[in-house]
Amino acid sequence: MIKELKFMAAELPWVEKYRPVVLAEVVGQTEAISRLQSYVKTHNAPNMMFTGPAGIGKTSAAVALAKELYGNEFRRNFLELNASDSRGIDVIRGQIKDFARTLAFSADFKIIFLDESDALTSDAQHALRRTMEKYTKTCRFVLSCNYSSRIIEPLQSRCIIFRFRPLQAKDIEARLQKIAKKEGLELDKKALDAIVYVSMGDMRKAVNVLQASSALEKKILEKTIFNVSSRAKPQEVKEMISVALKGEFMEARNLLDKLMYEHGMSGEDVISQVYREVMGAEEKDIPSKAKIGLVDVIGEYDFRLVEGANERVQLEAMLAQFARFGK
Ligand SMILES: Nc1ncnc2c1ncn2[C@@H]1O[C@H](COP(=O)(O)OP(=O)(O)O)[C@@H](O)[C@H]1O
Ligand SMILES: [Mg+2]
Repeated sequence: MIKELKFMAAELPWVEKYRPVVLAEVVGQTEAISRLQSYVKTHNAPNMMFTGPAGIGKTSAAVALAKELYGNEFRRNFLELNASDSRGIDVIRGQIKDFARTLAFSADFKIIFLDESDALTSDAQHALRRTMEKYTKTCRFVLSCNYSSRIIEPLQSRCIIFRFRPLQAKDIEARLQKIAKKEGLELDKKALDAIVYVSMGDMRKAVNVLQASSALEKKILEKTIFNVSSRAKPQEVKEMISVALKGEFMEARNLLDKLMYEHGMSGEDVISQVYREVMGAEEKDIPSKAKIGLVDVIGEYDFRLVEGANERVQLEAMLAQFARFGK
């Protein structure tokens, strides 16, 4: 039994183990966090909407806000629901109703955190708006979404909107160093740079990549980071692009093979990395004028992949277009 418990503790995902407990621990979202801290001081809060890409602290901020507001009564006053719950909107509405109809414990209101609220249909959003109004006395809602444009206007206008930003390298680095220290890992500058590169501002991804690597070694190698995250080193992608631009199509194709079969990258992974490297290239390597055309090409093939065309064929066709461009 004890053995089992130990095992479970060891397996706890680090994104949970190291989820911020207080608002001050949520890094990189200074403006949002200081406003939330002011709500804690005044024991008051409006309905809110947290928007921004995945893994940057939206859920963490909501949980930390509730923990600071409620202390020991946190569990009884905070409800977290996922709007994309497969059991449907009626189940969600039922849960909201059950939770909201009783008064808050040692507080003026409870908080309902509705994750992925942009997954709700417009009808469901209208219903949610009515629910929100019905329970204004006892509850505050925090809606979390990737795109605020997918939320109907009447809901938006009832919420204070907080825009969360992708995290900067320094914020990710500092957090990872802290975790590495606690876990007894050695994380040098190269490995750290690699994690920052593959995680693209997404702290959840950064922490997951670190945990996956730590299962393999205590001194984390740059190589391992790229392996566990199915990303290629920037250099490998740059080389494929430059070879393609030179018109050496067969060689570019070999390099593409390497990305897809050795690194296990999906077509989408390849395209997004190609896009990053083209946009980030220096003027002497890819002049701005050429970038315009290349981004146009990348956009076209990205669209085809999303539409479900054969990845391999489309990526080769993209490289062939690059070859034409290089001339
Ligand atoms: N701004 C941040 N500061 C500190 N840790 C973060 C931050 N953003 C994300 N994390 C880490 O990543 C995990 C996932 O973050 P989460 O708040 O669930 O992201 P989101 O809700 O924006 O998708 C957290 O448990 C935490 O470990
Ligand atoms: Mg979340």
